[in-house]
Amino acid sequence: MSIAFFDSGIGGLTVLREAVRKLPDEDFIFFADTLHVPYGPKTKQQVTEYVCESAERIFGEKVKALVIACNTATSVAATELRRVYELPVIGMEPAVKPAVEMNGAGGRRVLVLATELTLSQAKYMELVSRVDDKRIVDSLPMPELVQYCERLNFDPAELGDYFRRKFEPFDLDAYGTIVLGCTHYPYYAPLLESVLPPHIRVIDGSAGTVRRLTAVLSERGVQGGGSGKVRFMNSADDPAYNEKLERAWELLHKTIG
Ligand code: DGL
Repeated sequence: MSIAFFDSGIGGLTVLREAVRKLPDEDFIFFADTLHVPYGPKTKQQVTEYVCESAERIFGEKVKALVIACNTATSVAATELRRVYELPVIGMEPAVKPAVEMNGAGGRRVLVLATELTLSQAKYMELVSRVDDKRIVDSLPMPELVQYCERLNFDPAELGDYFRRKFEPFDLDAYGTIVLGCTHYPYYAPLLESVLPPHIRVIDGSAGTVRRLTAVLSERGVQGGGSGKVRFMNSADDPAYNEKLERAWELLHKTIG
């Protein structure tokens, strides 16, 4: 039995990378909703429908858990998937809590980067109001970054310009942590770190999600039985997209290790 990872596109591989490292005795399926990427600019209803269609395909495979390796899909559809399926569904959310804890004493602010759909959801607003008692959290949607990523555009000059433009309205000295609240964004973590002032820490939710996955597997007594195999699938059954997933997977090993 495999553990399924799901995202609109190649972004979720950044979470799968962490899972493969931490859980070498598991096998994995990675399913990308190629037909509908990107999710960020779409409506809650559309994305919920796409996620449910994908989940039906995924649960048709031999899987023991599903990780929604997508902040956007989690924020609109995790509750619905948990209602419909008995197998564990592990979602993810922007790592706002650890970021606030890191900055509480230092007096610096937190900037959360995510898709416009994630940032507009009640789930995100509730998360911020629960943990941000000092009102230090700001948010910035970066819709173009998902498009750059899906085109495997990692050109440092073009992306460097893009980031500088996006951060222009912000006084970066006032910020201590940037949260990557979309699983496509960690591909750009090294590049981001090179354009940001050195005191800013860049964090994402992968490690927390994989910790939760590990706990759920052990609670259910279903750990192990695999050997680190990864199988790629996509909603269009397009072999060219699976090749792109393989290229992105190799690239990730080079960029984030
Ligand atoms: N990777 C996704 C996320 O974590 C969604 C990106 C998109 O499809 O717009 O939010």
